[in-house]
Amino acid sequence: MLKVNSLRSGYGKMVVLHGVNISVREGEIVAVLGPNGAGKTTLLNSIFGIATIHEGEILFEGKPINNMKPHEMVKIGISYAPQLDNVFPNLTVAENLQMGSFIRGNDPTVKKDVEEIFNLFPEIERRKNQKAKTLSGGERQMLAVARALMVKPKLLLLDEPTAGLSPKAGATLMNKIKEVRDRGLTILVVEQNVKRALEIADKGYVLVSGRIIREAPAELLLRTDIEKLFFVSA
Ligand SMILES: Nc1ncnc2c1ncn2[C@@H]1O[C@H](COP(=O)(O)OP(=O)(O)OP(=O)(O)O)[C@@H](O)[C@H]1O
Ligand SMILES: [Mg+2]
Repeated sequence: MLKVNSLRSGYGKMVVLHGVNISVREGEIVAVLGPNGAGKTTLLNSIFGIATIHEGEILFEGKPINNMKPHEMVKIGISYAPQLDNVFPNLTVAENLQMGSFIRGNDPTVKKDVEEIFNLFPEIERRKNQKAKTLSGGERQMLAVARALMVKPKLLLLDEPTAGLSPKAGATLMNKIKEVRDRGLTILVVEQNVKRALEIADKGYVLVSGRIIREAPAELLLRTDIEKLFFVSA
């Protein structure tokens, strides 16, 4: 579904990723793991048309998407829950979800999808009339994922969805992400929390200093001391 070939990208003249190759098959959860500053967010920004691509190719369902704008990405089925600024703080939970479905216009199924999302995330349904800025960290992260789901994507890009969450809240959110996959989505998630991500992933990549230094099935990576790899290779 997604293929990233020899990607060199960054911001303006600055190069962050030095030849990254990644592939995500339909129905998979793929995790990209790496320490602070490794280039995880830059990878997602590159896929979503926000970073500067110097070299390489990004294919979605076999077609190049290198030069597409974010709103075009959403139209072809790619949705992004970024690491920061991922909700509208002054809008309520319900309004945030409506904003997520904005691209679908007057689609009559939007209402049904809101209900479905509330079924999946009862924690935020209880807060639907509350402003997003008053949510707890965990609730806000759930809202960010829920909002990204409102565009009905085929591929969901998630940037550290469980950052700052307690072990319990992080595990709960990861299980919901797995449930979303089981309902038919494909997911590319970047995380610093190795264990949490690999427990739901099919395949993992280790990204250090803008380079992929390891690629393996998740269960194999779970038995590897990845944090050590972060440190040794950084
Ligand atoms: N908008 C930007 N303009 C210039 N440089 C940037 C920009 N965003 C990130 N960088 C730089 O690119 C490098 C990689 O950053 P990136 O955000 O991709 O790392 P990351 O792996 O997501 O780290 P973290 O785990 O801390 O989120 C860093 O050195 C960072 O300073
Ligand atoms: Mg990041």
